[in-house]
Amino acid sequence: MLQLPKVIGHRGAAAYAPENTLASFHEARRRGATWVEIDVKLTADGVPIVMHDASLKRTMGVDRLVAETPRAELPADVPTFEEAIACFAELGLGCNVEIKPCEGREVETARMTVETLRRCWPVSLPPPLLSSFKAASLAAAREAAPEFVRAILLGEIGEDWRSRTDAVGAMGVNTNGTTLTAPRAVEIRKAGYALSVYTIDDADVAKALIGMGVDCIITDAPDIILAAIN
Ligand code: G3P
Ligand code: MG
Repeated sequence: MLQLPKVIGHRGAAAYAPENTLASFHEARRRGATWVEIDVKLTADGVPIVMHDASLKRTMGVDRLVAETPRAELPADVPTFEEAIACFAELGLGCNVEIKPCEGREVETARMTVETLRRCWPVSLPPPLLSSFKAASLAAAREAAPEFVRAILLGEIGEDWRSRTDAVGAMGVNTNGTTLTAPRAVEIRKAGYALSVYTIDDADVAKALIGMGVDCIITDAPDIILAAIN
């Protein structure tokens, strides 16, 4: 069974610092997180960076698509994946690396992500967990670097959850904690898969999910969830 921490800081500690930035990773660590979740996509010139949206507008105030922006023209606060990994090494943080490709770049994003992990991930840290909503990205990651453990991201758990999970060789299911039902949680855990939920910032909801057998809560506010469940 895949071993995960009980709490992972979402995009660092997005409740307290600009998401997916080095400042957010430091904040997550200060607030007790031992792992963070980040989103990785590619610049126009194929550099893996840490950014959730397809556009730089919401988080950086720049009205430009990531897929059309070369690395040299990115806002300074957007870390490359390599810079993020160096930060994790400094802070001792594990990472759930969500492969978040821009449309049409599912395979190359996965390949560049695992290539970077192979080259840069420190042996001092726990092995990273890869995840993605995109089956093509998980399949490409598996083919290029089967050694990295994968979780499938499912917005909702349908009847086909197990076949979708097994199709990409995933050991974990990461799903929306607000729609997960107790019977599904039990079914997934009994079948031997690790179960993580996003994005839960409410202490009582987190406690209820842990009571349902959820292994890991992905949260913008790791301090609140750690205090609630420990
Ligand atoms: O990986 C958990 C969560 O981050 C998935 O959704 O949209 O926040 O990347 P999103
Ligand atoms: Mg994410």
